[in-house]
Amino acid sequence: MVLRHISTCWRLLVVSGISLVLLTCLSVLPVIPNVRRGRLKYVADYKRVRHRTAFDIPSNWDPDLTATPDNKYNRGEEVCTDKFTRKDINLTFLLNLHKNSSREIPEEVGIAQIKKNANFTLMSHEKYVDILKLPKIEFLPGYKNPCWVEALKKDPYSNVPKTTSHRRYYKRMTEYYNHRYLQNIRFRLRCLPYYYILGQPKCGTTDVYFKLNLHPDVEKGMGKELQWWTKRRYGRDGWTQSLAEYVNVFDRASVEIQRSSKIDNTTLQIVRNKITGDASASTLWDNAHWDSYHGNAGREDPFYLTPQFLHHLQPDAKFIVSLRNPTLRLYSDYLFFSSAAEKSAKDFHVKVVKAINAFKTCTEHFPERACVYNSTFATYDDDGELTYYTEPVRGRGRVRLRIGLYVVFIRDWLAVFKKKQFMIIKLEERSENDKGVIEKILEFLEMRKLTPLEEQVLKVQAPANTRRKEDVEMGPMFESTAKLLDDFYKPYNDQLIELLDDDRFNWTTHI
Ligand SMILES: *[C@@H]1O[C@H](CO)[C@@H](O)[C@H](O)[C@H]1NC(C)=O
Ligand SMILES: *[C@@H]1O[C@H](CO)[C@@H](O)[C@H](O)[C@H]1NC(C)=O
Ligand SMILES: *[C@@H]1O[C@H](CO)[C@@H](O)[C@H](O)[C@H]1NC(C)=O
Ligand SMILES: *[C@@H]1O[C@H](CO)[C@@H](O)[C@H](O)[C@H]1NC(C)=O
Ligand SMILES: *[C@@H]1O[C@H](CO)[C@@H](O)[C@H](O)[C@H]1NC(C)=O
Ligand SMILES: *[C@@H]1O[C@H](CO)[C@@H](O)[C@H](O)[C@H]1NC(C)=O
Repeated sequence: MVLRHISTCWRLLVVSGISLVLLTCLSVLPVIPNVRRGRLKYVADYKRVRHRTAFDIPSNWDPDLTATPDNKYNRGEEVCTDKFTRKDINLTFLLNLHKNSSREIPEEVGIAQIKKNANFTLMSHEKYVDILKLPKIEFLPGYKNPCWVEALKKDPYSNVPKTTSHRRYYKRMTEYYNHRYLQNIRFRLRCLPYYYILGQPKCGTTDVYFKLNLHPDVEKGMGKELQWWTKRRYGRDGWTQSLAEYVNVFDRASVEIQRSSKIDNTTLQIVRNKITGDASASTLWDNAHWDSYHGNAGREDPFYLTPQFLHHLQPDAKFIVSLRNPTLRLYSDYLFFSSAAEKSAKDFHVKVVKAINAFKTCTEHFPERACVYNSTFATYDDDGELTYYTEPVRGRGRVRLRIGLYVVFIRDWLAVFKKKQFMIIKLEERSENDKGVIEKILEFLEMRKLTPLEEQVLKVQAPANTRRKEDVEMGPMFESTAKLLDDFYKPYNDQLIELLDDDRFNWTTHI
């Protein structure tokens, strides 16, 4: 009960990012017997030192750019957890350096950058833009996160359709930008994600995302599942979002990234260490509109996929892929996305048999990738008649068999990006040693280690998106279903082991 409460709180906390919720959540901590009182202090301290967001800052905020980083601003400036002490570094040098590279983008840099990126900026506002025809973005040096400069215009979101849930975000951001505009600031930073959590659904991506957001150097975008690469740019999920509209969701993060200048104590260079990320669990696999992508028309199976487009914009992006026993993933996906009335182990079994038969028959007659990337694919029924199998949609006993064919997707991504740009984690490893896996991810993202304080905060957070009570009560799938699925997935798991030269993906299901 208590754990459920924490879990709900944590979700609220991360989704809203509002410290009030943190207070509410913290209020229950003392009743947890196995959480030492000391931890409470840790969480409170953490809340104090965790940098504040742009929205804590009063509109008349006027930063003192001559201050040294160990000078604690008292009006909303971030409090650095790295301690620069006067003894450590040459203060004279530091002051000069800091003055020279203020947080503002210098006039000459701004103008040059705007010119260089003018065509990109213009085209990024088009709906359904062919990404492969976009000019390359000139990313700003000195920023770890991929960012560039665009002209700051008044009311930058006036043409953006806003759903109710996003109105507040755009209202606040408009206030912020308009305030700067009135101060004669004509440049703004625009950023794309430094890292992508590509997938897969029901493999703990939400939890990884929430935990990464705990790191003081991570700024979150408008939400976790931005779904631009696979859905929004094609108008699935409602309206069609241009690339510029996708970039809008990182504007709050970009403000923080620009404000995050720190001085590297060894090189004495200004570094902007903050990063932002996208954690849409559909990016790895979902290419529902592949036949309308650039150059794919008329093909039997896709050539161009999301990785080609993403590579054009961000050849150096970093990718995190979370995997899990595909048999268990499928059941978890089914329970999560199906309505209570129809789901049962029996219904699951029936749908799995049907899906496997349809898929296998498809691959006997068509290229494998056509069957994997089409959510409706041609197959043959028991009488040998050509028919179409459609993956059941949400609420209809969803059995998305193909999402577990990890190797097919990863192979397509590796055809475009380098292997070292990927970090592939297993959910199972996280249940054994979550801290170790998170540490490896931080290393992969070239981020500093968590402080003991931050580690404590990580520990008190309950996992996100755990199985609902009614789904736990439904019990596991039948042993026969598990066997069927294990046999189906085995050749694909073996290919993954071979592709990555990594024997961690040798899953067997024990019911
Ligand atoms: C620089 O920072 C690192 C840790 O971030 C610290 O170990 C080291 O002592 C610092 N060096 C100086 C000269 O302050
Ligand atoms: C600190 O830096 C200034 C300017 O670069 C230099 O003149 C001064 O000698 C340095 N002080 C020390 C103690 O290194
Ligand atoms: C700061 O700028 C001034 C003038 O452009 C220059 O002389 C000085 O060397 C710069 N200081 C640092 C630390 O870069
Ligand atoms: C932008 O596009 C125009 C017309 O296509 C071209 O002449 C110009 O060189 C381009 N500018 C840059 C910076 O690529
Ligand atoms: C997959 O979709 C493409 C494009 O719509 C189509 O041409 C192809 O026949 C489909 N393949 C199968 C096996 O259904
Ligand atoms: C997977 O594990 C089983 C035993 O658990 C073993 O027999 C098999 O050789 C392993 N396969 C690979 C590819 O490592």
